[in-house]
Amino acid sequence: MEIERLGRNLGAQVHGVDLSEPLSEGDFAVIHNALAEHELLLFRDQDISPGAQLAFGRRFGPPSIHPFSPNMAEMPELIVLDNHQANPPRLTDIWHSDETFRAEPPLGTILRSTITPRIGGDTMFASMSAAHDGLSDQLQQFLSGLEGIHDFKPFRTLLDSDEDGHRRLRALEAEFPPRHHPVVRVHPVSGRKVIFVNPQFTIGIKGMAPSESGPLLAMLFDLAKVPEYQYRLHWQTHTLAIWDNRAVQHYAIHDYHPQRRRMERITICGDRPFGISEEREIPLIPRQAISAENPTAADTASEIAPQRQVYRAGNN
Ligand SMILES: [Fe+2]
Repeated sequence: MEIERLGRNLGAQVHGVDLSEPLSEGDFAVIHNALAEHELLLFRDQDISPGAQLAFGRRFGPPSIHPFSPNMAEMPELIVLDNHQANPPRLTDIWHSDETFRAEPPLGTILRSTITPRIGGDTMFASMSAAHDGLSDQLQQFLSGLEGIHDFKPFRTLLDSDEDGHRRLRALEAEFPPRHHPVVRVHPVSGRKVIFVNPQFTIGIKGMAPSESGPLLAMLFDLAKVPEYQYRLHWQTHTLAIWDNRAVQHYAIHDYHPQRRRMERITICGDRPFGISEEREIPLIPRQAISAENPTAADTASEIAPQRQVYRAGNN
């Protein structure tokens, strides 16, 4: 297996893996650590079944079932995103992390393209750990004690305005009340600090008036738009991507309609986000260990990840 760094702050391609077959413990450990390190992993040419995609997701944790998206009837863990002339894309051309309205937002999302438009349909990703690190010490310190308020607000527009729609909305509001998450989240594997607010779901900051939280959130939302923090993924048919939903935001570019774009998605359950004030044991990524095959990796890791790292199953 080889892992090729693609972006300055996030993104790597995994070579030499066939996800239609179960991964060995050693290979999975490398991929698990690589996800925390690179935040976004690509696997090209993965013509695999939904069952194999689900099995890959289960290695990271139990699958999560989305309360609003259209699921495959025989496999509710799988969301099919099929956009075409009669079904234009909705609600994905806004920067977000998936489902942060949950008390325990997803660890990650696995998306696989089965039909790609000839032009367009890329997905943008932004490293919110890089965004945090780019802030001044003063602002980092100010943000570190704040809590964002997250709500499923965009999905309200998908519900009908009749009696049934209202009943469903009340049930969803009872199941998914607004949640508070630290504005600066500590990644539970890498220990990096991450800006964890997004314009799709974050509606305020606890203890602040809207006149205060509004401009502050607008400034934090804009961090995802900084090109230096981004990676742009161009999908090919059977590209599979997994992103670390604890560390990145994404934005699906709406520039392909009426062409068809069909994706299959598996979402992995995550844990409750915690901030800097909460003491936790963090199993920091053993950078030295995972780069043992490449002696230059440890030297350069703090500056820029090496172009290509080679891993051998069993050594990790
Ligand atoms: Fe998303």
